[in-house]
Amino acid sequence: MNRYPVIIDCDPGVDDAIAILLAKQLPMLDVKAITAVAGNVGLEHTYPNSHKILHVAEWDVPVYAGAEKPIVGEKITAASIHGADGLGGMDVPGAVIKPAPEALAWDVIYEEAKKAEGELVLIAVGPLTNVAVALAKYSELPKLIKRIVIMGGGATYGNTTPAAEFNIFADPEAAEMVFQSGIPVYMVGLDVTMQCFLTPEEVEEVGALGSKQAKFFRDVLQNVLAFSLSLGLPGVALHDPAAVLYAVEPELFSGEEAGVHVECKGKITRGKTVTDLYSDAQFEKNAYVVTGVDRTAFVKRVKELMAQY
Ligand code: RIB
Ligand code: CA
Repeated sequence: MNRYPVIIDCDPGVDDAIAILLAKQLPMLDVKAITAVAGNVGLEHTYPNSHKILHVAEWDVPVYAGAEKPIVGEKITAASIHGADGLGGMDVPGAVIKPAPEALAWDVIYEEAKKAEGELVLIAVGPLTNVAVALAKYSELPKLIKRIVIMGGGATYGNTTPAAEFNIFADPEAAEMVFQSGIPVYMVGLDVTMQCFLTPEEVEEVGALGSKQAKFFRDVLQNVLAFSLSLGLPGVALHDPAAVLYAVEPELFSGEEAGVHVECKGKITRGKTVTDLYSDAQFEKNAYVVTGVDRTAFVKRVKELMAQY
């Protein structure tokens, strides 16, 4: 098995939490660190939430704090969906929140990239501020990162505005820096993550596996599941878990190479990932946009991984 070094950059966040639970059960991922960024909720929650989730997962991974706000523009949150604390108010008894280390997320990304000698993979499932700061601070970083798998964007629609998906809308300038960095970017956007949903019955089936982690999976999803159903959706989209599974098992998914730019100036379109997927006019190819998934296989893998707890 070709295990490879990974950093998970996230803004936990309910689906980030599920992504971390799954990542522990994927032996190919040699997770060197979790780096927290402001996103779904402020860094004052996303940093401790990272520790809480690792406590639930019974997984010892170093956690580092990163950006408290976007590079440009005002900070936004998705607290209305993820809860004021970012985990739907879930209590995680016994979790030990270690003080944030001196080293900041962008420095850790660089240090681990140097150590990995070009083999480091970033899985970024929140706003891309930490990655962009790392790129701005360390000019040689693009040569040291093998690829970046992001949950973010969408070729056809948004979820925070009609044009923009949350992670991109939260920091469009950071996202554009990442897409234009020269590092291969794998965009796991709404086009595919909205297909990666679990129905209420499937969420219950995971909970019925009976472990502490499986019950946490079921319980932490309840509010977002209810919100999704209230919109008429068939279930809860596992956005961030889709990016983690894509990173390890791309055969469950489909997509194609594309040119992607992030609109940073638009009044109505700010934060839109503009792709040339459906256009005669083509950009230079800088990304792979994931657009399809075998949902049955996706759900089966989620259950199998959770059954390992
Ligand atoms: O649009 C979905 C994304 O925004 C997910 O990463 C979710 O956690 C939020 O950060
Ligand atoms: Ca996220």
